[in-house]
Amino acid sequence: MTEVQDQYEAYPYPERDPKDEKKRLITGSPSHPVEMDHFLWGGKRDWSQPLRVLVAGGGTGDGLIQIAAVMAAAGKPYQITYLDLSRAARAIAEQRAAVRGLTGITFVTDSLLNAAQYGPFDYIDCCGVLHHLPEPQQGFDALSAALAPEGGIGLMVYAPYGRSGVYPLQDAFGALLAGMTPQDRLAAARKVFKRLPKGHPFAVNPHLVDHKASDAGFYDLLLHSQDRPFTVTDLAGALEAAGLDLVNFAQPALYDLARLLPEGVTAPDGLDRIGRMAVAEELRGTIKVHVAYAVKAGRGAQVQARPADMTLVPHLIGVPPGPLAQQIAKTGTAPIRSGDEKFPEPLAKSCAPLIAMIDGRRSLAQIAAGAHLDHFAFAAQWRAIDRVLGDWGLLRYTRISA
Ligand SMILES: C[S@@+](CC[C@H](N)C(=O)[O-])C[C@H]1O[C@@H](n2cnc3c(N)ncnc32)[C@H](O)[C@@H]1O
Repeated sequence: MTEVQDQYEAYPYPERDPKDEKKRLITGSPSHPVEMDHFLWGGKRDWSQPLRVLVAGGGTGDGLIQIAAVMAAAGKPYQITYLDLSRAARAIAEQRAAVRGLTGITFVTDSLLNAAQYGPFDYIDCCGVLHHLPEPQQGFDALSAALAPEGGIGLMVYAPYGRSGVYPLQDAFGALLAGMTPQDRLAAARKVFKRLPKGHPFAVNPHLVDHKASDAGFYDLLLHSQDRPFTVTDLAGALEAAGLDLVNFAQPALYDLARLLPEGVTAPDGLDRIGRMAVAEELRGTIKVHVAYAVKAGRGAQVQARPADMTLVPHLIGVPPGPLAQQIAKTGTAPIRSGDEKFPEPLAKSCAPLIAMIDGRRSLAQIAAGAHLDHFAFAAQWRAIDRVLGDWGLLRYTRISA
């Protein structure tokens, strides 16, 4: 067994108790079906067709359970293949699915490098795995090979700047604690960690919290033997080499250079889309992970939902429309959060009644009619709503519940 396999057998990640499935559903990006449709199928997927899913490196099952639970609740057909090398992680994922009574899942203990054997897939979730492979490019290539021509991938990889301080500690612990069992490494590292100087880049980085959450979190963050972060440029390069296009990041606003530049400063004309996002990543400095959607090369520019299409059905994810509309009506500001950071954005109070009408069932045309707005007046208001709520990952388009 490799050191990485040892780690995930000893500390299945993330630490989860199957009993908690009775109390809550963990949701997030990537791999919420509503968000998948938005980025990969123009918001118009025919959900009566079975969705063939691969969860690659599924760990203790967060992505798996989210997809299966949302599909089951919506009454839509699916078949999921869960793939992971760790038997301990798989056992927890299986128990979680059993507690929820979820069916339609095949559990497989194997490497995602063999993914194509189990496919093809309409959707592949690969969250927090590719940066842990000895040769990450082989992982990107394997997922691409397992993807159906019109399918899409939702992935998360670590990003370097927001993890400042992590890598010197991983290197130091790697050199100091080599050859120990995972349990002894953890115990020794926790003691060394307590003596870290207050000015260490890790100690002054307020965005890193995993090490406080659990043993598995501490191990994954600071004791990982294989962890290679990706800049925007690295990620775009790895996708391109695998024959994939980056559709977008789940929160495009984070990568929007215009939002970061003061009046009078503009990006040079020669800077392309990836170049602009790369500069935004450097200027922001706090991005810890990249959550992105990708499709086969040549399709990237055409698959994301475009709200100019009035037949689309908008959804809010993670925020109830009523209170959000009330807050915007009162303050003229959308209360945006990303991770532990706040990014309040101005949004005209007149947008509030339109937001209040979002229920996951009404189309844009029905919302325009309900607000008694003509096409042009509605389009101008909705563009503003979409620029704020869409770009920050709160507003998506799908007919999954329409
Ligand atoms: C950080 S965990 C992420 C788990 C899950 N995707 C999540 O986001 O909660 C990484 C997982 O990838 C698995 N893994 C690592 N290398 C793998 C490989 N080559 N094939 C399949 N799984 C792998 C590990 O066993 C571990 O469960």
